[in-house]
This record gives sequence, structure tokens and C-alpha cells, in this order.
Amino acid sequence: SAQAIPVICVDGPTASGKGTLAGAVAQALGYHLLDSGSLYRITALAALQAGLALEFAHEQAIADLIPGLSIRFSQDQVFLNGVDVSEAIRTEEAGMNASRVSALPKVRLALIALQHSFRQLPGLVADGRDMGTIIFPEAALKVFLTASAEKRAQRRYKQLISKGISATLSGLRADLEARDARDTSRSVAPLKPAQDAQLLDNSDLTVEESVNLVLDWWQSKQPFR
Ligand code: DC
Repeated sequence: SAQAIPVICVDGPTASGKGTLAGAVAQALGYHLLDSGSLYRITALAALQAGLALEFAHEQAIADLIPGLSIRFSQDQVFLNGVDVSEAIRTEEAGMNASRVSALPKVRLALIALQHSFRQLPGLVADGRDMGTIIFPEAALKVFLTASAEKRAQRRYKQLISKGISATLSGLRADLEARDARDTSRSVAPLKPAQDAQLLDNSDLTVEESVNLVLDWWQSKQPFR
């Protein structure tokens, strides 16, 4: 059954490096990858395209759009109804919009089955906010990744500047703290570590060090070594 397929959850706040860590762990193990944040980003984009403001008044209408969306991942690209939206969903604004729709309970409910469908052999690495608490509560390894707001803002700043996008450190930090506050305080599936999550603060770790740590944790969970 699907329950027998191994899952590693990587949850944490925005810009903590979840995507990078989850991608590298999936690559090392040959596992599938679920970037659950992209589903909220795509939902927000689809809602705006349908002329729906991202507000509680439109909760049902936004949730109702989800079953009709054709979402396809291929390597680093994401397609919505056949259109490449990879860049459109990666902007800071798209992240903030995703955070808004993600506070709508019916939207979260409508995305559950889609998220479960990523659980396929030989295994899955799932990246998000509620992978370990709600979506895959029985996962064998749950990592809760954090880093100081200062470090996260610095990383995001470097990323944007390298892409030729202008930004200020203080503005980015304010934005990510606002998004953290919304994601942590919402009533459904708030951002918080699962009770059985392993905390990993990567403020002073390289990507490689974090990846190796998680792979070691995973190894130590295997019954036959
Ligand atoms: O990980 P990300 O920055 O792509 O996520 C964008 C937003 O989507 C984030 O601010 C909160 C929401 N989200 C969520 O509520 N639950 C998830 N599992 C993943 C993302």
C-alpha cells in the first residue's frame, strides 16, 4: 500500500533552504520530489487569472478551480494548463499570494489528494509547511529546517541579485517576517514542527553539510544496514 512507501518531510519557514535541501536529498536517494509550495503558488495564479481576489469571500470559488487545473512538473519547469509558469510562480509577489490562498481551509483540503499522489516508489521527499504535521503524519523522517531571519534574508537577496532583480535586504527581511507571521498564525495547518520532527538550524551550515546530516539521519532509520 502507499503507506509502505517511504517519505521524508522537510518543513520550515520561507527561504530556509527547504527547496535546495529537499531537492538534493531526493537526488541522492533517487526519490521523487514534492514541492508543495508550488501548488499554492499555482492556485494563487489560477485564481487571479480567473478574476478572483485572494480573499475569504472567494474561498469556495478558488477551491473549486483546483480539480480542473492541469499541473505538470518536468525537471525544473512547471506547466499550468500547458503554459510554462515556472518564472511567474517564483516571484516574491507570487510567494505572498500563495501564502494568502494557503490560509483558506477549503483550498488546503482541495490540494490534499494531489499531494498524496506524489507518494510513489521508491520514495518521496516532500517540502512544505505541513508535510510532517498534516499531509504525511506517518513519515519515517521529518526535518524541520530553520535559519535566522537575517541569514534567510541574505540568501534571498543574493539569489535575486544574481538573477538581476533589484531588492533591499531590509525589504526582503520585512517581507519574509510578514509571510512567516501569516503562515505561523493561521488557524488551519499552521507552520510548526511536528512533535516527532528533527530540528535543523542551517544558519551556519553549508548546503552539503545539511544534506549529509539528513542523509545520515535517514540511514540511521533503516532497519538493515
Ligand atoms: O515554500 P513556498 O515559499 O513556495 O510556499 C509559498 C506559500 O505557500 C507559503 O508562504 C505558505 C504556503 N504553503 C503552505 O501553506 N503549505 C505548504 N505545504 C507549502 C506552502
